[in-house]
Amino acid sequence: MPKVLLRKTATLRREIRSKGFLRVTKITTARLAVFVLSKIYKFPASWHPPTSARPYRLMVAKVVNDLKPHTVCEVGCGLGSILCRVDANERFGFDIDPGVVRAAKLLRGRKIHFAQGGLTAVHLSHIDVLILVNWIHEISPSELERELMPLLSRTRYLLLDAIDQDNSFGYRYKHDFSFLEGKAKRLSVTRHPNEGRSFQLFEVVV
Ligand SMILES: C[S@@+](CC[C@H](N)C(=O)[O-])C[C@H]1O[C@@H](n2cnc3c(N)ncnc32)[C@H](O)[C@@H]1O
Repeated sequence: MPKVLLRKTATLRREIRSKGFLRVTKITTARLAVFVLSKIYKFPASWHPPTSARPYRLMVAKVVNDLKPHTVCEVGCGLGSILCRVDANERFGFDIDPGVVRAAKLLRGRKIHFAQGGLTAVHLSHIDVLILVNWIHEISPSELERELMPLLSRTRYLLLDAIDQDNSFGYRYKHDFSFLEGKAKRLSVTRHPNEGRSFQLFEVVV
């Protein structure tokens, strides 16, 4: 058997041992669906693992839902896997990747408004919760500050993720959000097993 196949079989066996057959079947089927979508809409499948493989999204949605928001906006929303679990009258998703936005519209566009763009594309007049999760490690604190500040006066709560300082995976930036001092109050810090990051809820105070 070729080496690659041997390695893949060994990985699959290990996964089945740790997660169980049913869960691995569910994850594999969902991965396949994302893979097919990624080929049609031309986006990197590796950035969009299914929620069965990355259940932190369920926890993020719960933190948001506990706030009983009316309007929720997620920037860097990917396929809308968090937004589709959020209970809010108005849900908006922005992403810089046009292929991902088209796929998200196909999957969930009847109930969620998706648009292409980053933080600077958000022109909503009021946002109860603004979610920025699992991509801000790609931009520097100064860039994040520059793009986020104009939205603060229109935003009530922020939900951000911060890579742990001792996380050795090689993420570019590990934010401490010190630029939010005096502008937003940290209300909670939540963790999910094996994520190597925390999910931080802030209330804007300016
Ligand atoms: C790993 S996915 C996470 C998706 C979603 N937040 C989640 O946790 O399920 C990261 C997404 O952020 C998007 N992204 C990266 N940089 C961005 C930026 N500067 N503005 C908006 N979206 C961005 C990518 O295109 C990708 O769809």
